[in-house]
Amino acid sequence: MTEATTGEQFVFDPFQPGFTDDPYPHYAELRERAPVHRHPFGFWVLSRYADMFALLRAGLSVDLRHVSPDTLPDGRDSVTGAVEPVSGLSMLDVDPPDHTRLRRLVSKAFTPRAVAALEPEIEDLVDGALREIAGAGRVDLVEALSFPLPFTVISRMLGMPSTDHERLRELSGTLVRSLEPIVDTELARAVEAADAEIAAMTAEAIAWKRRHPADDLLTALIAAEDGGDVLSDDELVAQVVLLYLAGHETTVNLISGGVLALLRAPDQLALLRREPELAGNAVEELLRYDSPVQSSRRITLRPYEVDGREIPAGSFVMASLASANRDEAFWGPDAERPRLDREGARQHLSFGGGPHHCLGASLARLEGRVAIGRLVERFPRLELDGEVEWNGRINLRGPERLPIRV
Ligand code: HEM
Repeated sequence: MTEATTGEQFVFDPFQPGFTDDPYPHYAELRERAPVHRHPFGFWVLSRYADMFALLRAGLSVDLRHVSPDTLPDGRDSVTGAVEPVSGLSMLDVDPPDHTRLRRLVSKAFTPRAVAALEPEIEDLVDGALREIAGAGRVDLVEALSFPLPFTVISRMLGMPSTDHERLRELSGTLVRSLEPIVDTELARAVEAADAEIAAMTAEAIAWKRRHPADDLLTALIAAEDGGDVLSDDELVAQVVLLYLAGHETTVNLISGGVLALLRAPDQLALLRREPELAGNAVEELLRYDSPVQSSRRITLRPYEVDGREIPAGSFVMASLASANRDEAFWGPDAERPRLDREGARQHLSFGGGPHHCLGASLARLEGRVAIGRLVERFPRLELDGEVEWNGRINLRGPERLPIRV
């Protein structure tokens, strides 16, 4: 293929003004002009549904150490500038057999059955938040519901001692930036500092938990670590940090982004009110329509072919899940609008796929369904009360502030 037909002069630029407020037109252009895109920084971007589906299940690596310097342009020593949080030891950053061992240790807490048992507690938390919203009349939904719900649930599941929540929130907000496609030096330094501080806080929480064991996930993981060579000290810290961050930095976007999508599509809001049993499918469609995690990554260990083009071994591939979720070739001509009764909405790729498929998917679905379902049911006059403010992130993208009136 020639440059002209590959559309290689087109450069995907998530840093251009306005991108994080509405990345979707840019994804549409990417799918159209350069569906197998090599960024000038040396990484590749895939954006079509079929390519993503295959990529996620192709048994590729997620370990950044496999990125080959040969794939990078002169002068760059790291593909995205990204640093590896907590030394890259979380299950999200490692391949089998480590991945299999680590995931197995944690997965019991996240089976659909274990998660279903949390429903009454989640309903109580949501109802408590809705009472306060009713009393106040006008609130920022992020502060009132979308953030505290998943944050409280994962803190309780882990059995985290009460700690400096504000500081932790600030640090995790910085640390998740390491998942962005490109990280500049200044941000990389901030991420490293946040990583060190959050790891130290987590190590302290683990030390405290050793003295105060209870029926919770942290105690179970400590027991696994004590039980032999199943889990090292550093690995324990890395899994706890991952669960803690993944537990709240993602679902917050599902709840706020989902509610915003409904408020902007009044016919769909009315549909959900008429047919509350649609709430489960509605959450799938809202996950598709605005992906709380916009991208994942894979690293090729051998040449990997997509659409007649060869991605060389050792390449970093950015998997744009959010783009795949809007691909008309898969979803049909109405891909750009939410339809809560869409058949097959659950085929979205918001939770990734293959061996790294999101471990917390059942929990996120449950929190999303209860929060969005009950909010809509309880407040028939729910409306926007000003402009949404986006959090400015390229990957874990969502509203920073969502003013609503009930
Ligand atoms: C992995 C999305 C909520 C725990 C992932 C991945 C994505 C994702 C895209 C990577 C998948 C891949 O590369 O194939 C989401 C979204 C959520 C959410 C959109 C909310 C709407 C949660 C929650 C938890 C969680 C609530 C746990 C409390 C994890 C873990 C992994 C993961 C542990 C790593 C799995 C592995 O590497 O084997 N998630 N997540 N996530 N997620 Fe989630």
